[in-house]
Amino acid sequence: MSFKQTLGWLKWTLKRSKEHRTEVLDALVEDLQTAQPDHVVVTGDLTNLGMEAEFPAAVTWLQRLGGPQQVSIVPGNHDTYTFSSPAVLWHHWMDYLQSDSQDRAIREPLQDFPTLRIRGPIALVGVSSAQPTNLFYANGNVGKGQLERLEQLLHSLTESGLCRIVLIHHPLSKEGIAQRRRLSDAQAVQDILQRAGADLVLHGHIHRTSVMTLPGRDSVIPVVGVRSSSAIGRKPHKRSRYHLYRIERLDSPLDSRRFRITMVTRGYDKTQGCFQRTRERVL
Ligand SMILES: [Fe+2]
Repeated sequence: MSFKQTLGWLKWTLKRSKEHRTEVLDALVEDLQTAQPDHVVVTGDLTNLGMEAEFPAAVTWLQRLGGPQQVSIVPGNHDTYTFSSPAVLWHHWMDYLQSDSQDRAIREPLQDFPTLRIRGPIALVGVSSAQPTNLFYANGNVGKGQLERLEQLLHSLTESGLCRIVLIHHPLSKEGIAQRRRLSDAQAVQDILQRAGADLVLHGHIHRTSVMTLPGRDSVIPVVGVRSSSAIGRKPHKRSRYHLYRIERLDSPLDSRRFRITMVTRGYDKTQGCFQRTRERVL
């Protein structure tokens, strides 16, 4: 175990393990089994310390949500906790990460982002902002090569008629985020979204609900951050939530948006031990 992992383990034992609870995740799975969404996306930090045993354990949990046809993921900074983590996560999580059409035999660890997974009328574009960092840092970086491929991919989807949903772990804003936790090339991602367009961006990392918009190619792009899904909420504003999205195609020439996206927030009720609807809004 590296020094970073040892400190992380201490933090987990003394603090984080009291907040991120199995019973919350069990309630989440139960709620999703009732809601039966067409697809589930998880925007990273499925693991904590980058220990090898955490990766197959995460797959076992993902399988409770569904198989790779029903569930898509992108990695978070905890999933690349050590410099060997990217290769390990790719090995274990390939089925939930990979693009639909790529050949496993020619795959190199983390060289395949952004990914593209098409499910019905939805194009899921998976961006990896996760990278190994030094002690006390949790920055993200998309990187020049991936940025170029992202712009090409989004342009190629412009005429597809698909609802383009970009998945990324780190938020695209630096507002309220310590410098050591930000996405270093957030502005470059924003610029690409403005040039190439997208219909929705989903992220995690900050454990807060966040809804903002960015300028897009033809219309503004909603950008939504979600809380941790495992937090029991010793601080109520951090208590577990997840979002259900209803996506409807708009055919009105008067509306520059191609889709109406309605977001239902479901939050963990500590007293009842289950998730309940807390809010619905049109993005
Ligand atoms: Fe994170």
